[in-house]
Amino acid sequence: MYTSPAPQSARSAVTVPMLLQMKRNRERIATLTAYDASFARAMDHAGIDAVLVGDSLGMVIKGGANTVSVSIDDMVYHSRCVAQGLQSALLIADMPFQSYATPERALDAATALLSEGMASMVKLEGAGFVLDAIAFLSERDIPVCAHLGLTPQSVLKLGGFKVQGRDEQAALAIIEQAKQVEQAGAQLLVLECLPSSLAKSVTETVGIPTIGIGAGPDCDGQILVSYDALGINSGHRRPRFVKDFLAGNGSIDAAFAQYVRDVKSGEFPSLEHGYA
Ligand code: KIV
Repeated sequence: MYTSPAPQSARSAVTVPMLLQMKRNRERIATLTAYDASFARAMDHAGIDAVLVGDSLGMVIKGGANTVSVSIDDMVYHSRCVAQGLQSALLIADMPFQSYATPERALDAATALLSEGMASMVKLEGAGFVLDAIAFLSERDIPVCAHLGLTPQSVLKLGGFKVQGRDEQAALAIIEQAKQVEQAGAQLLVLECLPSSLAKSVTETVGIPTIGIGAGPDCDGQILVSYDALGINSGHRRPRFVKDFLAGNGSIDAAFAQYVRDVKSGEFPSLEHGYA
C-alpha cells in the first residue's frame, strides 16, 4: 500500500484559538472534508489547517440524494477513521439531521462525536432554535462551528441546493444570524452558497473566522468537499464554486498541496468561482 511521505517538519496541532488568531493575522484557513484515515493523512501532510467530517458523506460515500439519511453512528464511525489519519489538523465533525433538535439531544450527539469520534469541534446548521443548542454546547465547553447560507439539511424545505441571501431582506437576515451564532458561542462559521459581497460583509461583521464554500474570495478561509476538489462528481453537475485540483497535478498528494497553497495565497477561489 502506498502511504504519503512524512512531513518535512512536524507542525504543532491546530487548535480552535489558533483559527481565531489566523483571522486576526489575516492568514487564510485551508480546510477540506474527509471521511477516512488515508485521505485525512494526505491532507494533513499537505498542510491543511482543519478537516471536516461532513455529513456530505450521505451523498459522496452513501450515494444518497442529500444528507438527511446520515446518522450519528455514521458520523462517529467516519470521524474516528479520520482521527487516525491526522497529526496536526483540527478535526471538526458534523452534527447530523435532527441530532440537535433540542439542546439535550445536541449534548448527547456532540459528546459522542468528541469522545468516541475523537473530534475537537462540532458543526450545526442554521440559527433560530439552533441558537439554544449552540449556547448549551458552548457553555459546556464543546467548541461549536455554525453554518449559515445554504444549509443542506434543509434541502427538502428549500426545494433544492440554491444560492441564499440574494435579496436585501434575506441578506440582512443572514448578517443578523451571523451575529446571533457568534453571540451564542460559536467559534467558527461556515458560509455556504452566498453572494460574494454578502459573505464579505458577514466576515467583516463577526469576530469569529468564516470559512466559505461558494461564498467568494473574502472569507477568512475556504472549504471544499474533497471529492469535488479531486474532480469526482458521481454524475452530478459541477457547481461553479468547485475546482478540480487533480487536473494538472499528477497525484492526490500534489492536488491537496496545491489546494492549500492556492487558498493560502488567495488564488482560490477566484471571482469566477463566486456568485453575484
Ligand atoms: O457536509 C459537508 O461537507 C459540509 C461542507 C459542504 C461545508 O457541510
